[in-house]
Amino acid sequence: MNARTCLSVILAAGEGTRMKSALPKVLHPVGGLPMVAHVVRAALAAGAGDVALIVGNGAEAVGGAAKAHASGAESFVQTERRGTAHAALSAREAMARGYDDIVFLCGDAPLIAPEAIDGLRKELTGGADVAVLGFRPPDPTGYGRLIERDGVLLAIREEKDCTDEERKNGFCNSGVIAVAGACALPLLDTVGNSNAKGEFYLTDIVEIAHARGLSTHAIEGTYENALGINNRVELAAAEAMWQARKRRQMMLAGVTLIAPETVFFSWDTAIAADTVVEPNVWFGPGVTVAEGVRIHSFSHFEKAVIGAGSEIGPFARLRPGADLRKGVKVGNFCEVKKSVVEDGAKINHLSYVGDATIGAKANLGAGTITCNYDGFSKFHTEIGAGAFIGSNSSLVAPVTIGADAYVASGSVITEDVPDGGLAFGRARQSTKEGRGLELRARLAAAKKK
Ligand code: UD1
Ligand code: CA
Repeated sequence: MNARTCLSVILAAGEGTRMKSALPKVLHPVGGLPMVAHVVRAALAAGAGDVALIVGNGAEAVGGAAKAHASGAESFVQTERRGTAHAALSAREAMARGYDDIVFLCGDAPLIAPEAIDGLRKELTGGADVAVLGFRPPDPTGYGRLIERDGVLLAIREEKDCTDEERKNGFCNSGVIAVAGACALPLLDTVGNSNAKGEFYLTDIVEIAHARGLSTHAIEGTYENALGINNRVELAAAEAMWQARKRRQMMLAGVTLIAPETVFFSWDTAIAADTVVEPNVWFGPGVTVAEGVRIHSFSHFEKAVIGAGSEIGPFARLRPGADLRKGVKVGNFCEVKKSVVEDGAKINHLSYVGDATIGAKANLGAGTITCNYDGFSKFHTEIGAGAFIGSNSSLVAPVTIGADAYVASGSVITEDVPDGGLAFGRARQSTKEGRGLELRARLAAAKKK
């Protein structure tokens, strides 16, 4: 870990009008996490002790998303949008505290890797005063160009201010810039706005630094690191890259993905080794899967825990609070919500289990439903260890089925069943011999009339 102190300044005051959204741009999620939170996490992972967030539109919500990952993150409001240097200067107070390194990041570039930030900080450690992360995009249109001579970075020129010759250069500014802490404010305070857009450009600090005899360098990073999101097409592209990265991590960590491109993860999805995920599975935020689990196709999970050796799906839905212990089976077309399912219990077909506790090795037959909601309140169902619930039973909560109890198929259970008890909650069947044929004859005659 880098021993130097570091402040990360995250520019996130953009309006993002091209997203055509009521949500501030930097709050749009990638991998289920707001973009700005990805940037905050990368900054922390690269050793930023402090985070200063420049906010505008939706200031409170944006600050909240950052604080969820860096409780000490400070927000600074940029009231007028006058350019990236102007935005950075909103955090003057923080920058004046005297950091060794100050790293500027963009809140709308969620794929930035901690290693890339760390690479820039290493340049500062090595004596650079300003270090810029460059990249070579497939199409450089719209990006600032890095103007170099003999390995020295002379300036960053915004596309609109470039000469035709400069514009041909494909080495671009990612927007990630690290500055020796003592230089940051003196450089930013010198930036003017005589350019095509009349804005105060953070990128101008390079030319100013060079003119002052300070040392300025660019290092090259990947396109991913730099990808900035301005519209929902780019958002989808970032999501695709993020998912590809996560799938690769999962597979290298011992998870089998049979068709990786069809499995979608969230930022915090945790899966242990030797779990197999079949095609077309969705992991929403907050899902943890232990080792040796088999997840069959077309399953959908959010805020759920799956214990070791369990078998889930196909077509299973685990909703928030589903807590499956070891060796549990949840089969096709079953939904589990806010319920603990103890070791070895089976919910194999067409069931809804909500607000329940299912004891170890209990067996819920096809079509078992916990009736947990009366339209106003939710009620709990308790099923003891080893209980057997016959198919197509409705358990009307609040209700308790004892350990090793037996519920007959088709029951509507409204009263508790004691341990080892047998409950029938259905009308008794009556059978009339020959009456089936009589009935058919009568119905056929009636139809002819
Ligand atoms: C910026 C860089 C460009 C680089 C590109 C990489 C400048 C002048 N240009 O251009 O060299 O190639 O990023 O994606 O820095 N922001 C504010 N307040 C402002 C203006 C911007 O907070 O007044 C924030 C935006 O929300 C955004 C970031 O700063 O997160 C970059 O601003 P943006 O307008 O997107 O700059 P680009 O034109 O993309
Ligand atoms: Ca941008």
